[in-house]
Amino acid sequence: MPKKTSTRKNRSSMREFPLDRAFTLFEPGPVVLVVTSNGGKANVMTASWTTLLGFTPMIGIVAGPWNHSYRALMDTGECVLSIPTVDMMEAVVDIGNCSGDSVDKFGRFHLTPLKPEKVAVPLIGECLANVECVVRECPTSDGLHLFILEGVKAWSNPDRMEKRTFHAKGDGTFIIDGETVNLRHKMTKWGGCI
Ligand SMILES: Cc1cc2nc3c(=O)[nH]c(=O)nc-3n(C[C@H](O)[C@H](O)[C@H](O)COP(=O)(O)O)c2cc1C
Repeated sequence: MPKKTSTRKNRSSMREFPLDRAFTLFEPGPVVLVVTSNGGKANVMTASWTTLLGFTPMIGIVAGPWNHSYRALMDTGECVLSIPTVDMMEAVVDIGNCSGDSVDKFGRFHLTPLKPEKVAVPLIGECLANVECVVRECPTSDGLHLFILEGVKAWSNPDRMEKRTFHAKGDGTFIIDGETVNLRHKMTKWGGCI
């Protein structure tokens, strides 16, 4: 039985991130952590099947009913999507290889729960960014476990030195962010950036 996540520290490390730019956190398609809280017990799962669906931002995640997090998403209708960096990679894989039905993952992986603003789900202090989300669409048909989420508040930690995220290849191997190429001068139709 996971312990109640009672202490939620002040989020002094996190700065408000413009919500209308929060989609840029997901453009690279990083592995994310999905934080939920059901009955006051916070839990976290690893998810690599995510997709950006809109600027507000709208994000689709696949979370199957075999996950403890599925019930929490269905019951509470909210979550936090946290963006981990490469220095968290091994913990992120371990988080995706155990279940909140028997493990207090915040405790086991020394994750710091920070106070959210719009949802009743903690942010993760160690992550580069956190997006508070509400569930807009739940899975409706068997075999398609797609949740459509809308970000309602976003945070990032500007003091974090490590900013590289990572991407799952689906076979237990991962790609780490590489070089950034600036082609903003060519983004003429989009006012410099999209
Ligand atoms: C790298 C990685 C990516 C994963 N991506 C997903 C995903 O996109 N969707 C999903 O349902 N499960 C995914 N999983 C599996 C869940 O993270 C795993 O079932 C986890 O134990 C669920 O935790 P919970 O039972 O506490 O919710 C992934 C696992 C790993 C290691």
